[in-house]
Amino acid sequence: MLKKIGLIGGGQIGGVLAAEIATRRLAREVAMVDVKGPDVAKGKCLDIAEGTPVIMADVDLEGSKAYDVLKGSEFVINTAGVPRTVRPDGTYPSREELLATNLKITDAVADGLKKNCPKAFIISVANPLDAIVYRLYKKLGAAKSRIVGMAGVLDSSRYRYFVAKAAGVSVENVEALVLGGHGDDMVPIRSCCRIAGMPVEEFIDGPTLDAIEARTRKAGGEVVGLLGSGSAFVSPAWSALQMLEAIAFDKKKILAVCTLLEGEYGVEGLFVGVPALLGAGGVEKVIEVKLTAGEKAALKKSVTSVAKTCAEVDAVN
Ligand code: LAC
Repeated sequence: MLKKIGLIGGGQIGGVLAAEIATRRLAREVAMVDVKGPDVAKGKCLDIAEGTPVIMADVDLEGSKAYDVLKGSEFVINTAGVPRTVRPDGTYPSREELLATNLKITDAVADGLKKNCPKAFIISVANPLDAIVYRLYKKLGAAKSRIVGMAGVLDSSRYRYFVAKAAGVSVENVEALVLGGHGDDMVPIRSCCRIAGMPVEEFIDGPTLDAIEARTRKAGGEVVGLLGSGSAFVSPAWSALQMLEAIAFDKKKILAVCTLLEGEYGVEGLFVGVPALLGAGGVEKVIEVKLTAGEKAALKKSVTSVAKTCAEVDAVN
């Protein structure tokens, strides 16, 4: 059991995270900060705390509008920022369109982290994912192994779910990887998709896989459109906790995560989704998988989109 996990953001993902941490007994203490009124973080924490006797979990939850509640956190999961939400005309923004608003919030997050728990492992979930992790890294000057973005686990999980349903097999049988940025040009890697160790093409025909991969790329938006207000929140929370558990329990688990690349995959100085080994040291190693020519080209295109958003980040002091 960890001593303390900090959560930044008391929205939908933050709520599921706090509840899951209590249910799984991951930490003795949970701290949640949300600067918004009336007192969202306090309310969410009180709600969950009042249920802990029912689930018999000795987990203390403290919510606050002030960042100093995070002091002593070994891990912090950052979800602070506005989510995508449906506009009155029925359309919804891309994740990149959230940048201007969420960048300001991220700078405040970086300040709060620096002052209160500069040594914590940071898992960031806020969008636009790759650019927000990049900004946090730049502002914090943290070791690259200790700051990571959550997107690949979720995108790969969506791909796995669609494949499992199309093949009529258990989700447990499906392994998949989605790489690149967490935008609509993310890259599902068909050559890495396996059903019980066998190539996915032995179970599902090409056109069906094309459709599954197209759906995967836009899966976040599909949920936004259906919910009408806000974005997916349960699957992102579970995905972030899978990463946290891999590090906290030194699992040496290979997951698709958004990490700083310094030459791997031909990328320099950007946070991009790739497979990496997570253990007690955080991101311990980036794994370079063999890709087909088509996958390489798609990854290059996705990295170009990430670079464009990060250039916009760099333009703001
Ligand atoms: C999604 C958001 C959380 O993909 O980025 O649903």
